[in-house]
Amino acid sequence: MPDASAFSRAYAELKSAGLSLSMTRGQPADDQFDLSRELLQIVGPDETAAPSGVALRNYPGGVAGLPEARELFGGVLGASAEETVVGNNSSLMLMGQVLTWALLYGLPSSPAPWAGQRPKMIVTAPGYDRHFSLLEGMGYEPVPVPVGPEGPDLDAVESLAASDASVKGMLFVPVYSNPTGDSISDAGVERLASLPAAAPDFTVLADNAYAVHHLGPEKVEPRNLLRAAEAAGHPERVWLFGSTSKITFAGAGLGFLAGSRANVAWYCGRLGLQSIGPNKIEQYRHVKFLRAYPGGLEGLMQAHAALIRPKFEAVQRVLHEELGGTGLARWTDPKGGYFVSLDTALPVADRVVALAKEAGIALTPAGATWPGGVDPHNRNIRLAPTRPPLAEVEKAMQGVALCVKLASAEAG
Ligand SMILES: Cc1ncc(COP(=O)(O)O)c(C=O)c1O
Repeated sequence: MPDASAFSRAYAELKSAGLSLSMTRGQPADDQFDLSRELLQIVGPDETAAPSGVALRNYPGGVAGLPEARELFGGVLGASAEETVVGNNSSLMLMGQVLTWALLYGLPSSPAPWAGQRPKMIVTAPGYDRHFSLLEGMGYEPVPVPVGPEGPDLDAVESLAASDASVKGMLFVPVYSNPTGDSISDAGVERLASLPAAAPDFTVLADNAYAVHHLGPEKVEPRNLLRAAEAAGHPERVWLFGSTSKITFAGAGLGFLAGSRANVAWYCGRLGLQSIGPNKIEQYRHVKFLRAYPGGLEGLMQAHAALIRPKFEAVQRVLHEELGGTGLARWTDPKGGYFVSLDTALPVADRVVALAKEAGIALTPAGATWPGGVDPHNRNIRLAPTRPPLAEVEKAMQGVALCVKLASAEAG
């Protein structure tokens, strides 16, 4: 291994290249958005009602969404149309509604509203920063558990849930998680659905944002949490969420959720106080577009994968070439989703991110993958390769690898 001065010289060269690259954004690239161009024109001026007969331009139709959209997106979550609500543009908003109303009213199985009980929610760390800020912003305390190739550490989840009635549940990404790409195992699904909890209304919010976002032919499709919870005698325990943000247009599509019929009735009851109904025109054009796409939704997701797979492969290739066998870092090799998670061996993640920034490579701030923005081990870095062009992903990753070597040499 060369000494720090060799890395410093290489780093000085990197800085002088005047790069301006970003690996921060878990967003689709423009060529991915182009796959959905037809969405904007697929509904003509004479289409005033959905095939189900629901008028598109007027209020009536209810808060749960167009029947056609409930069926299609229920399928993404493995739920029936009756168990599915399709809303407007954001799944985070739907999670926020359930969490807010749980505080205000309690959930269907709650003896009392959660507000004032100092509720805690289990999260995985590394995890999704917006889950943490959503919880923290509403007064929930996120309690981190580790996550690995089998998904969340269920021993840790079980012992937290069983020992503390203020642990009200868990918010996590079951498939291709953000940022590690890990998915819950079938055994994990069974345990989560059936574990004994001190809180009678222990609730699992499963943010299945990447349910259909496979990168290749291997599809990770764990058992359905909703069905498992039902079979375990806890039908109200599980809520599933998803959206079209990484299927069609990010933030300009549909969010959806699924739960037991009782949960759906409860949710719609509260939603009906705030809205006469969702944007049915958006729902209809999504259904029409996705049904017409060659191969349907699956065909579209394969087209996405063909565009982003080379970028994920480039991340793996550069990391193997530059850091393989050095013992300086390890990283995930996800089969789907939008991220790669890199852990430095030494506590230098913040230094790596700072060095990269100085060299014109923007990375997600170190610590962002932990509640409160503080990684107690200072080693996790989230890499988001989808948005930049392939050549930039390669360049950025070479820079990141060099920053890992330099930061490790400085610390060692
Ligand atoms: C795990 C996860 N959930 C939700 C979202 C955002 O979803 P939406 O646009 O539907 O609010 C993201 C976006 O990166 C995400 O990674």
